[in-house]
Amino acid sequence: MKILIINGPNLNMLGKRDKKYYGQLTLKDINKELKKRASKKAKLKFYQSNSEGELVTFIQRHLNYDAIIINGGAYTHTSIAIHDALELFKGKIIEVHLSNILEREDFRKIDYIKSVATKIFMGKKEESYYEAISYLLKQ
Ligand code: DQA
Repeated sequence: MKILIINGPNLNMLGKRDKKYYGQLTLKDINKELKKRASKKAKLKFYQSNSEGELVTFIQRHLNYDAIIINGGAYTHTSIAIHDALELFKGKIIEVHLSNILEREDFRKIDYIKSVATKIFMGKKEESYYEAISYLLKQ
């Protein structure tokens, strides 16, 4: 199984962001743990960008992958372009968020990724990512 791990804007700043919502770990820490958990069962490819267009192009170039784990960051709440790129993807799409976007500001309740996602894990800080990878590895 080939899985893309895609992170949107400001997720490269994990470790420095509000720990109450995002925890202590850096994205590098989280990715290292995901790799460990996938071990030989899946091949992971990691990508982070702060740019909407780059995220769209990356998705378009990897449509042959089996699954995507995506934290769209703030683009979750704004990006029809990322929604449309994900719509082209035939494999499973798992949406993740470190924080619980439903229990924060109203603008975070708008979610353009939700309708193309097979499953959503949120509100458990880095555990949300780990639940997503275990879910895929069980499929
Ligand atoms: C986030 C939640 C978003 O609202 C926010 O813009 C982020 C991170 C999360 O993982 O909790 O950057 O996606």
